[in-house]
Amino acid sequence: MQSPPVTRGLEDVVVASSSITFIDGRGGRLLYRGYDIRDLARFSNFEETCYLLWYGRLPKKDELDQLRTKLAGRRDIPDGLEKLLEAIPPKTSPMEVLRTGVSALSSFEPDDLKRPESSIGGALRLTAVLPTIITAFHRLREGGRPIAPRADLDHAANFLYMLTGKEPDPSLVKALDVALILHADHEFNASTFSARVTASTLSDLYSAVTSAVGTLKGPLHGGANEEVMRMVHEVRSVDQAEAFVTQKLTKHEKVMGFGHRVYKVEDPRATILREYAKRLSQNSGDTTSFQVLRKIEEVVHHEKGLYPNVDLFSGACYEAMGIPLDLFTPVFAVSRISGWTAHVLEQYSDNRIIRPTSDYKGPTDCPYVPIDKR
Ligand code: ACO
Repeated sequence: MQSPPVTRGLEDVVVASSSITFIDGRGGRLLYRGYDIRDLARFSNFEETCYLLWYGRLPKKDELDQLRTKLAGRRDIPDGLEKLLEAIPPKTSPMEVLRTGVSALSSFEPDDLKRPESSIGGALRLTAVLPTIITAFHRLREGGRPIAPRADLDHAANFLYMLTGKEPDPSLVKALDVALILHADHEFNASTFSARVTASTLSDLYSAVTSAVGTLKGPLHGGANEEVMRMVHEVRSVDQAEAFVTQKLTKHEKVMGFGHRVYKVEDPRATILREYAKRLSQNSGDTTSFQVLRKIEEVVHHEKGLYPNVDLFSGACYEAMGIPLDLFTPVFAVSRISGWTAHVLEQYSDNRIIRPTSDYKGPTDCPYVPIDKR
């Protein structure tokens, strides 16, 4: 029998209808619920973007105020989870901690938060609490104590406050808020897809998010922003950038922060983050990393015709904010949790179990040989 063609990596395979995010890969546009991310980055904020993703429309003022209050009121982690974070070896990667943290948090939560029909409550809770898990672990591994969240601060400001214990600089808060908006959703990317697969079995939201965190961790997905900055630190100067990248490409190695499954032109998120990275590096008085990135960008485009993706400039922004390198991917999760949960809600609303098939290439009809005759 002729087997059907295999689509490796599910490239261009349409697996569901969705009304959350539209990507125009050739035009370089990204829309959440119909709104261009360029407008959202300019005029909106992360909390409003969460509302948009979950409810499908922009909120009225009182609706946004309510959402803000709810998010700010759900940031605390249970004592049991804090004890667990204390017990985790400090050398553990923060993405592993986040995966464990989300999974463990589930056992401390009321059952009704875990039921598919009440997942909006779970979406709020998980979005509110992820920054607390990450910063608490970071403080503990540094030998300090976690800093309690502040309800008077917005999401981005509170994250920086819990990380450093200091009143955050408004320009850094704005840059982080924009980065959170830009990373909030991206259609059927790998981590969102894994969340939807888990939800499609009618498993709970916490399980779906645990799957998503594990998927985001990989260097071909969320882990790329950390790899980009490792590369920048290795290159160190603009003069060495060209030789470094050319050597990588000659060895057929990938340069992190470039290429995209869907965008055939520049990722619109990279365009915005480039501007923020430039501004923040100028404000800090040290533009070396930014210049190295620009040089790498020039060489990769010249040699391979590839454009930057969202990960090329996000790390430089986070570095300017004083966020440690291994927290870059967790910061991605702090944002993408809004999209993951919106997708899980959408999956529950019209569910069919996601179960593809494979083109079997192994043997058939093998006679079973008893162990002493093999
Ligand atoms: N550096 C060098 N070459 C690249 C890169 C890159 N970053 N990206 C793609 N290419 C080349 C591949 O080597 C391949 O060339 P070939 O046909 O000569 O073998 C061709 O472009 C197609 O690449 P694929 O890996 O097949 O493209 P795919 O759509 O499967 O992968 C991906 C997309 C994973 C993003 C890829 O571009 C990549 O690995 N980029 C680097 C990692 C990265 O930055 N990931 C973040 C993506 S954005 C996000 O997840 C938030």
